Amino acid sequence: MKHIHVELGKDSYEIHIENGLIDRAGEYIRSLTKSQTLAVITDSHVDALYGRRLEDALHRAGFRVHRLVFPAGEEHKCAISLLNLYQQLSDAGITRSDYVVAFGGGVVGDLGGFAAATFLRGVPFIQIPTTIISQVDSSVGGKVGIDLPSGKNQAGAFYQPKGVLIDPLLLKTLPVRFIHDGMGEVIKYGCIRDLGLFTLLEKLDDTSIFEHWEEIIERCCRSKADLVERDVLDMGERMILNFGHTLGHAIEGCYGFGHYTHGEGVAAGMAMLTGVTETMGLTRPGTTERLCKVLKQYGLPTDVDATAADLIPYISNDKKMRGNHMTLIILKEIGQGRLLPLAADDLPKYIRKKGAK
Ligand SMILES: NC(=O)c1ccc[n+]([C@@H]2O[C@H](COP(=O)([O-])OP(=O)(O)OC[C@H]3O[C@@H](n4cnc5c(N)ncnc54)[C@H](O)[C@@H]3O)[C@@H](O)[C@H]2O)c1
Ligand SMILES: [Zn+2]
Repeated sequence: MKHIHVELGKDSYEIHIENGLIDRAGEYIRSLTKSQTLAVITDSHVDALYGRRLEDALHRAGFRVHRLVFPAGEEHKCAISLLNLYQQLSDAGITRSDYVVAFGGGVVGDLGGFAAATFLRGVPFIQIPTTIISQVDSSVGGKVGIDLPSGKNQAGAFYQPKGVLIDPLLLKTLPVRFIHDGMGEVIKYGCIRDLGLFTLLEKLDDTSIFEHWEEIIERCCRSKADLVERDVLDMGERMILNFGHTLGHAIEGCYGFGHYTHGEGVAAGMAMLTGVTETMGLTRPGTTERLCKVLKQYGLPTDVDATAADLIPYISNDKKMRGNHMTLIILKEIGQGRLLPLAADDLPKYIRKKGAK
């Protein structure tokens, strides 16, 4: 069992990480609240796999449970799902002294967390993340929200959970595509601030990693929690988490969302950018080779066919662009990322090496 305290004053909370934790979820939530009723928000896949098991665990701790299930998939992280959830929360008679439990991947955490943040102006909530992305990233940090037709995550809030319960064994049923997708973010943590994690990943592959999830998730959550503590509203230091994301988002957008997963875009983005900064002398020699080797080990791409000219139009819409200035995250070496402020006009230089496509 591993615990991480996230220190945010009155919004502080604990992250618990333990194999099999889902079966003790009731005890943990009971230690946080005297309330009798819980609304478990989950998606259709997670509900079919684990819904009953979580409900049994919550019943054992004496809770009355309402399971609110919406169809799985990013396209359901939308306003219509949100309105449906409000109706269901209302029908279930949920009050501000009850708790919402967001049980699923990043889609459930974002949508369920936003419903909790806004229903009755805020019902306390717990995150029980079930994918790699949600266990190492989205369940910690308090960003909740939905997609709008005009863009991803465009409506949302900062709303901290009362606790995060992580059971790494739930990852056993995750389809391999989502394992690789999540590994993009895990490798990113190693690159930007955790050489020990990166070295561990070098020794494993997508099968042997299962023995080490507790440790790996703990290391990622510690990094995320530390950055969130220093920069709750994501205006400064937390930006380092965007390593690989400026190019990654452009790759996702350029090929049409769904062609490359988010993690694949980020993987290629990290490798392409590091290739360039290494030739510029900003990154220690040999870093790109080491990074590409690990990415390939976990089934991730290290480059894409698109030219700099193909990708640039998809970068100008990126939120990291402020006026004519932007911040790129680059590596000094493995384990050490840094912020590089940049005039937007200089950006093309960082997408492809001189003379490349
Ligand atoms: N709030 C944040 O800080 C933050 C950070 C990163 C990503 N996100 C958001 O997270 C979302 C992506 O998260 P995701 O990749 O977890 O997507 P997801 O929630 O759609 O989960 C991926 C798929 O796996 C299924 N699934 C979930 N757990 C499973 C399990 N244990 N076994 C089998 N199948 C399972 C889901 O039903 C879904 O089909 C995006 O919407 C993104 O914007 C938010
Ligand atoms: Zn990401």
